[in-house]
Amino acid sequence: MEKVYFNNEFVNWKEAYTHIEDRSYQFGDGVYEVIKILNGKALWLEEHIERLFSSANKISIKMNTSISDIEKKIEKLININNINEGITYIQISRGVNQRSHDFPNPAVAPVMIAYTRELYRPIEKQKSGISAIFQDDIRWLRNDIKSINLLGSVLAKEEANKKGAEEAVLHRSNTITEGSATNFFIVKKGVIYTHPVNNYILNGITRLKVLELAEQLKIEAREEPFLKEDVLQGEEAFITSTTKDIVPVIKIDNNCIGNGSPGKVTMKLQEAFENLLSRLL
Ligand code: PDD
Repeated sequence: MEKVYFNNEFVNWKEAYTHIEDRSYQFGDGVYEVIKILNGKALWLEEHIERLFSSANKISIKMNTSISDIEKKIEKLININNINEGITYIQISRGVNQRSHDFPNPAVAPVMIAYTRELYRPIEKQKSGISAIFQDDIRWLRNDIKSINLLGSVLAKEEANKKGAEEAVLHRSNTITEGSATNFFIVKKGVIYTHPVNNYILNGITRLKVLELAEQLKIEAREEPFLKEDVLQGEEAFITSTTKDIVPVIKIDNNCIGNGSPGKVTMKLQEAFENLLSRLL
């Protein structure tokens, strides 16, 4: 039977329960990571676990383990569950304590869970592209923290789904921040733009890889704020994430982006990304 990592042990799914006084359950008081598994290997594992520690640190959760220890546990879990392609989900909660907004004092031990899931890369969507909607970014002001408080993202995604779209492209006033669970890029006059790294976005690992690839391909990329109008006037748009890789956005709110099909720069980056993946495996 598939195992789950739960409080220092590998246990059967049925044995892993959330305590009703766990702060993740009551307050969304925790952080998480989603890591891609390809050919049985966790991709960019160190970067993900470093970001997990950074998120925990930003909300003052004191980790009682090391980055390398979690890396080993994740590798072991993938091995035990014999997953070839999918994801690992890791969550750290501040811990279990009688419900009170105050941090537990004295501090309690954080609760870590991790599981694996088979999930396939959305190859068809990577080829055809997807449609999206614009949505007000109603999330909090610390999206640099990969917090398990995802209500703003969940509501945006539901709005997109109701309108038959795949993703919500979020904006504060007119400035585009990111997707509900992805980073967002446009290509305008041949230049790639994506929101700069600050508290308004998550600094996606896929985002960083795409920026590195753009540099290698000698395509100019600017981490600069841009507006809804820029998206509509641009030639191309795409989203990135661990589960999506690079997916072209060909339509937003019924407006075609460029000629309404995946653009040349996006496809070049997709090709370079595939080459990168095959070098890593
Ligand atoms: N989401 N921005 C947001 C708000 C995200 O939730 C994510 C990832 C990203 C992309 O980050 P990365 O390239 O490191 O996956 C950007 C994950 C996949 C999720 O919540 O399922």
